[in-house]
Amino acid sequence: MADMAVEFCGIPFKNPVVVASLETTNSPDLMKQCFDYGAAGAIVKTLTDMEDMARLTQNSKYAILNDRGDIIKGKVPRDFVFYSRSGYSSTYYKDWIPYLKEVGAYARERDAHLIGSAGAKEVDGWKDICRTIEDCGLPMVELNFGCPHPALMPGVHGGSMISQEEDIAYEVTRQVVEAVDIPVVVKLTPDQSRPVEIARAVQKAGAAAVTATNRHTGFAVDIEAAEPRLAGTAGIGGTWVKPLTLRWVHNIYTQVGIPIAGTNGIFDHRDAVEFLMTGANIVEIGSVLMIKGMKWLPNIIGGVERFMDEHGYPDVESMRGIASRRAAKDYAEQFARDRVHAVVDEDTCQNPSCTICIQMCFYEALSQSPAGKVEVHPETCIGCELCMDVCPFDSIAMRLTDEAQFEAGYFDIPDGVYEGPEKFVTRRNNMKTIAANSPKTAAEAAE
Ligand SMILES: Cc1cc2nc3c(=O)[nH]c(=O)nc-3n(C[C@H](O)[C@H](O)[C@H](O)COP(=O)(O)O)c2cc1C
Ligand code: SF4
Ligand code: SF4
Repeated sequence: MADMAVEFCGIPFKNPVVVASLETTNSPDLMKQCFDYGAAGAIVKTLTDMEDMARLTQNSKYAILNDRGDIIKGKVPRDFVFYSRSGYSSTYYKDWIPYLKEVGAYARERDAHLIGSAGAKEVDGWKDICRTIEDCGLPMVELNFGCPHPALMPGVHGGSMISQEEDIAYEVTRQVVEAVDIPVVVKLTPDQSRPVEIARAVQKAGAAAVTATNRHTGFAVDIEAAEPRLAGTAGIGGTWVKPLTLRWVHNIYTQVGIPIAGTNGIFDHRDAVEFLMTGANIVEIGSVLMIKGMKWLPNIIGGVERFMDEHGYPDVESMRGIASRRAAKDYAEQFARDRVHAVVDEDTCQNPSCTICIQMCFYEALSQSPAGKVEVHPETCIGCELCMDVCPFDSIAMRLTDEAQFEAGYFDIPDGVYEGPEKFVTRRNNMKTIAANSPKTAAEAAE
């Protein structure tokens, strides 16, 4: 059986699955459930001294949407959209003290960790909340520099506003790191263009890791009512956001090298594996638990373990970052990777009743033959793979172009920047040409 144990910021975790800071960690009982269901850690809902952010949680609202933008009534599919607003814990952080101690002990008995989370008004507040967390015996604290909501509240400064400015992110992190002995993790916002630079700044300030990332800010419309959902702008996430988050996990893993907690876009174990393969050390699971319940956790944990067993990964470390390390560093390097061209399997291809690939080849490399076959014109096929992706019968594959084919003009891509205007003429992929070349037309002509 694969070894699920990982180390994060010098602390051993029995598996890489941690419950993120949100409503599912907003009470001692809820956090105990996280541990009962096998999470290696749970991050308390952000503790604060900001009354506005405490009040906001009392005004939380949710719109769980499907891929059409309609409210999901019933079973939540994989491609859900979680549109919502919520603040920080509505219980004052000092009132949490006995509960943090109690739940921290409960976690330790189960070989797990209760992790702190802070979001404050001023630097002194950040320091005091983090010291309180440390004094309660918690082994680590996450600074919430990623929450999208403070930016939407008049007069409030915090959350995502902090990790948009390198100087501020650096300074708050530096002062907190000086104030406590436990590892400090900085949760970043994706609502900006420079998370890599912010990760570098907080690393310099002494952060032990970053969390990539909190949620985006969005806008959703009910087109039947011609109204915005939730009356206006709000936080937004779901599995659709995963590739956007992974971009930052990949960039931070390859360019900064600081340990990463990956969050924002996980539904099941496959998503968790994607985060780990991109370079995350642990993953934080959030909104899916709000719609599937805490009983969803063992599916994710067990699923990661099963995946590792089935694919021969002896431990998490052997899987971590593997995809990022195999990635080309830029498009120039991507161009240099092996060249391929399309081949069509005549036995399974449904042409002439299907002509999808011919319509979708925008490089004039496929045509309809009067004999009822798809013809490949390899000298114009650039190996873009679009036809393979759209074929409903899995009849197209990509074949490596050998030296002789290369010499024969496959991928004869002009050296110059511009192509001649003769390329404007679509000779093969328009419906008229396809019809003119079809076996039906050939049969009619023969009559
Ligand atoms: C309703 C809701 C409340 C949240 N509250 C917090 C919070 O208090 N502190 C925090 O750091 N992140 C908060 N988050 C962000 C989550 O911790 C998590 O990072 C984010 O939802 C992305 O993970 P997911 O795709 O698994 O939901 C909240 C998210 C949601 C949906
Ligand atoms: S899309 Fe597939 S089945 Fe349809 S014509 Fe092309 S190769 Fe044949
Ligand atoms: S790989 Fe691209 S260029 Fe080649 S046949 Fe398919 S769609 Fe056309």
